[in-house]
Amino acid sequence: MAPRYTAPKGTFDVLGPRSARYAALVARFADHAARSGYDLLVQPMFEDVEVFQRMGASTDVVRKEMYDFEDKGGRHVALRPEGTASAVRAYLEHHPTPPWKIWYAGPKFRYERPQKGRYRQHHEVGIEAIGTADPDLDVEVIALASAFYADLGLRRLTLRLTSLGDSVCRPPYRQALHEYLSARRDELCAEHADRVGDNPLRILDCKRDACIAAAEAAPRLLDNLCEDCDAHFTRVRAGLDAAGIAYDIDRSLVRGLDYYTRTTFEFAALALDAAQNAAGGGGRYDGLVEELGGPVTPGIGFGLGIERILDACDAEGVFPEPTDRLDVFVIDTTGGAAARDATLLLRAAGVRADRSFDGRSWKAQMKEAQRSGARFAVSIDADGMTVRTLTEKGEPQPVTAVTLVDSILERLQ
Ligand code: HAM
Repeated sequence: MAPRYTAPKGTFDVLGPRSARYAALVARFADHAARSGYDLLVQPMFEDVEVFQRMGASTDVVRKEMYDFEDKGGRHVALRPEGTASAVRAYLEHHPTPPWKIWYAGPKFRYERPQKGRYRQHHEVGIEAIGTADPDLDVEVIALASAFYADLGLRRLTLRLTSLGDSVCRPPYRQALHEYLSARRDELCAEHADRVGDNPLRILDCKRDACIAAAEAAPRLLDNLCEDCDAHFTRVRAGLDAAGIAYDIDRSLVRGLDYYTRTTFEFAALALDAAQNAAGGGGRYDGLVEELGGPVTPGIGFGLGIERILDACDAEGVFPEPTDRLDVFVIDTTGGAAARDATLLLRAAGVRADRSFDGRSWKAQMKEAQRSGARFAVSIDADGMTVRTLTEKGEPQPVTAVTLVDSILERLQ
């Protein structure tokens, strides 16, 4: 029978064993973040809508994709479409000592047209580091993402890197680009012909043939950086070279959010379809703290999409789902009380144990044990208690309720 209700469009349930992979991925990321001095930040999933509107009015994320609504108290709030603006809001609220280095994990909400790799609720792990403009921090941030991907086993990733300049060099460049593209407005794709003024830089990243041709000889920001931005970018590249992190300079990289300044990057998973192959991205946002009402404060970070990373892992055959979810499965044909007591004892001793319910037959319980992924089955019947290995052939060995826990712990060593 078709279910009466299904998950909302663009969202999905994550069941075991894939959900165990989500948890393992987040744990792995937490380890990398902790090793580099980042603390976990736990945040609300919704904010005053203005927190996100401050990111820039010309981006699709803010203009079209926000899940915003009025709550019962008449406040206009939005489910967070991304993590950076919320982190900056928290920085301004709590005044932590800079540099403030945090990591996060959790869902983000964007009202997008759902397709493979693009959802209305996706999940990210990410970091933000607020309070220093030191270019060596940019290297640390990129190195963290890069080491994390490598640790998962991903090999087919490229790092696209650019500098988007700052408040000194970007405005005159933007003006020059605007003039250049306005003169070629008729040659641009339908979406961008009307929007040259919104953010002319985004047109450089348009994948449609018309825009690619029209912008081919357009001036590029990398050739027009001011002295400070140029020095910053040179130091970042030197740091990445020293760390042995390969990158491609991408003169058309813009990214979908407006707050980026200076170092900006994206990791593309080559195993995925080109349209949705950004497995993560980030960069500096040296003007965002000010935009949200704070003093001039630099910041940098990234967000990595968990679904896209897991898709890339599937495509590359790495970071498989964990298979050893249980140590012991208890089978009991004497009424269930013995299984109840044995599983509680085993769990108290740190053993991962499960059992069958509803007084099923020995055969049915054995099937459950085999399906459970447990290494051992403890079988309890009128003749007593035995332990057998499920993962390989072997004779059942007798144990007693008194020796059970020690015997299992010994086998698990
Ligand atoms: P973003 O590139 O918009 O950046 O999102 C980060 C990552 O989340 C993307 O690279 C992609 O892997 C994943 N992602 C984004 N939207 C979707 C979607 N609809 N479905 C599936 N996956 C998606 C940011 O949000 C910035 N806050 C990153 C950042 C942090 N920059 C500085 N600090």
